[in-house]
Amino acid sequence: MKKEFRDLLKERGRKELPKVLLASAECAPLSKTGGLADVVGTLPKSLAKLGIDARVITPYHRCIKDKYASQVQHMFYFYVQLGWRREYVGIEKLELDGMTVYLVDNERYFGDKIYRSEYMEELEQYAFFTRAVLDAIPNLDFKPEIVHCNDWHTAMIPMLAKTQYPGGMQSGLKFLLTIHNIAFQGKCSFDTVQDLLGVDSKYYTPEFMELDGCANFLKGGLVFTDRINTVSPSYAEEIKMPYYAEGLQGILNARAGQLSGIINGIDKDVFDPRHEAGLPAHFDKGHRKGKAQCKAALQERLGLEQRPDVPLFAMVTRMTEQKGFDLVACVLDDLMSREDMQFVLLGTGDERFENFMRAAEYRYKGRLCSYIGYSEPLSHLIYAGSDFFLMPSRFEPCGLSQMIAMRYGSLPIVRETGGLRDTVIPYNQYTGEGDGFSFSNYDAWELRDAMRKALDCYRKPEVMEGLIRNAMSKDFGFDRSAEEYAKLYVWML
Ligand code: ADP
Ligand code: GLC
Repeated sequence: MKKEFRDLLKERGRKELPKVLLASAECAPLSKTGGLADVVGTLPKSLAKLGIDARVITPYHRCIKDKYASQVQHMFYFYVQLGWRREYVGIEKLELDGMTVYLVDNERYFGDKIYRSEYMEELEQYAFFTRAVLDAIPNLDFKPEIVHCNDWHTAMIPMLAKTQYPGGMQSGLKFLLTIHNIAFQGKCSFDTVQDLLGVDSKYYTPEFMELDGCANFLKGGLVFTDRINTVSPSYAEEIKMPYYAEGLQGILNARAGQLSGIINGIDKDVFDPRHEAGLPAHFDKGHRKGKAQCKAALQERLGLEQRPDVPLFAMVTRMTEQKGFDLVACVLDDLMSREDMQFVLLGTGDERFENFMRAAEYRYKGRLCSYIGYSEPLSHLIYAGSDFFLMPSRFEPCGLSQMIAMRYGSLPIVRETGGLRDTVIPYNQYTGEGDGFSFSNYDAWELRDAMRKALDCYRKPEVMEGLIRNAMSKDFGFDRSAEEYAKLYVWML
């Protein structure tokens, strides 16, 4: 154990590091739609290196069953009452790369979709998961001291634990709630919460879980959890302001003393341009021949003109409002018609953005490819084969893609918000400093200017060389973040 932790434990009057149970809707590599899964799948492994036993509890989604059923061990089962519904809960255990995962099995709630497309069905899915986790905890072969909840799906765990389990669930059990994305809050009528989770009507007030005439899962969690954190220091500040808080600024300011930000990291073994098996060639910051081969392979795979010299811009993303697609839609034609460049998109999400990108591909065949869908292998080839990586987000709690892109020598072009601001140093033409490009306001012309600046640099090999080296030299591994979490956990006890 590091001396720093030994001292901290001594100061807190403890002998051992805390045991932690992370509750999450998704966990990579088992199930994933975005960065939440990456974080929940990486944090326990980095905590283990520090001596912390952190395990995960997550739904047994169909995609997990399909791939891992033979490795899963059945632990026990019970039934939960969800209003008038009596539902089966199977608890299965999976050991994966040194990480222990408890899987909550119920075929009715966890099938093909990690998130049901009907909003009320999704709400019921995660109300069920919440109840199942609460009732499973006392019977696990592991006694957590901290339950680390993530986003609205698991935010009601601290509220229910403190209001419905007499004497508390377990003496000394503490709760941490991490906000990965405040835009999703789990809003519904109070009747629904009452029906699903039996919440007492005295909690349907603005002091507790009411917001703008709705019951709000995330707000309930923010009120009752012991500590709140989010995934970057900048975002922890931003969500105290109405522009970013999506209505939750009141509770976040009231609890500012218990709110902090810890920047995420990435799994350096999963995202590894030097060794990963799926890439056609390998490279590192000093030897980038392999990157040129990846670019050629990417162009070939996506039907783009085979040209090593043309700057290639990329996006790999969920296609939602958050990610700045309206800005891209504004400037794409302007840039594509004037500049010698290629553009690749891998993503899926809102139909209007998908349709816009499909139509753009039709207009610029051979120079632009919109791959509408989800593909891990293709995402890696895009990170490896692109020159620039676009993230013009309206808001970005942390963002992993810009860190991944930098690791593969693809320079990020980002809006200065949340974790993007905390991880990308914009190019300074006077000092040569930087590892990417950025713009400040949520404004399409600012994005266009940043992309033009990138194009300008592309024509100056010595400038590009410096920027790529800086980007690839950064260490975005999860170990640093895990140390911050470890300290936070110890502080909580
Ligand atoms: P968010 O969690 O908001 O989606 P992040 O940048 O934190 O954004 O993480 C996104 C993660 O999901 C990255 O690992 C990225 O590569 C991956 N990802 C997003 N969309 C796709 C897609 N269509 N195909 C493959 N991977 C994707
Ligand atoms: C969310 C955020 C993203 C963050 C990820 C993991 O999905 O949108 O910015 O990186 O969670 O914390």
